[in-house]
Amino acid sequence: MKQATPQVLVIHGPNLNMLGKREPEVYGSTTLAEIDQQIAHKAKVLGIQVEVFQTNQEGAMVDIIQQALGRMAGIIINPGAFTHYSIAVRDALAAVDLPTIEVHLSNIYKREEFRHHSVIAPVVRGQISGLGPLGYLLALEALSELLGRE
Ligand code: DQA
Repeated sequence: MKQATPQVLVIHGPNLNMLGKREPEVYGSTTLAEIDQQIAHKAKVLGIQVEVFQTNQEGAMVDIIQQALGRMAGIIINPGAFTHYSIAVRDALAAVDLPTIEVHLSNIYKREEFRHHSVIAPVVRGQISGLGPLGYLLALEALSELLGRE
């Protein structure tokens, strides 16, 4: 959906509310509030409106994805641990069929083997993994480009 001011939904999954305190050697010391500020700033520069949502609940994530249909032009999602097993989140993304970028702060391919597989990856446009908070900003740039073209 091409819009004058594209609306993008940013979804942070489980335990990402703990950023800053959570395994800083893996996820860094930046808090989620700080990441959200960076996202808001980047969105303003790109002329995108963002709605940001964090949940620890799988069902809430499915609901927010479903509610994006008809309201949002694209989605940026870090599904957290749901990445590796939530067919419900994958099916919701497939159902709304919006341009979606999957973001991971850590490089999931460099970590434990159970993190190497994303059940989300086959239904998204692209994935950014391992670039820390910068991943969200690059995802916004990518969506801005993609939405301008579509
Ligand atoms: C994560 C990677 C997942 O494996 C993990 O369960 C997370 C965060 C990341 O951003 O690197 O919660 O999605």
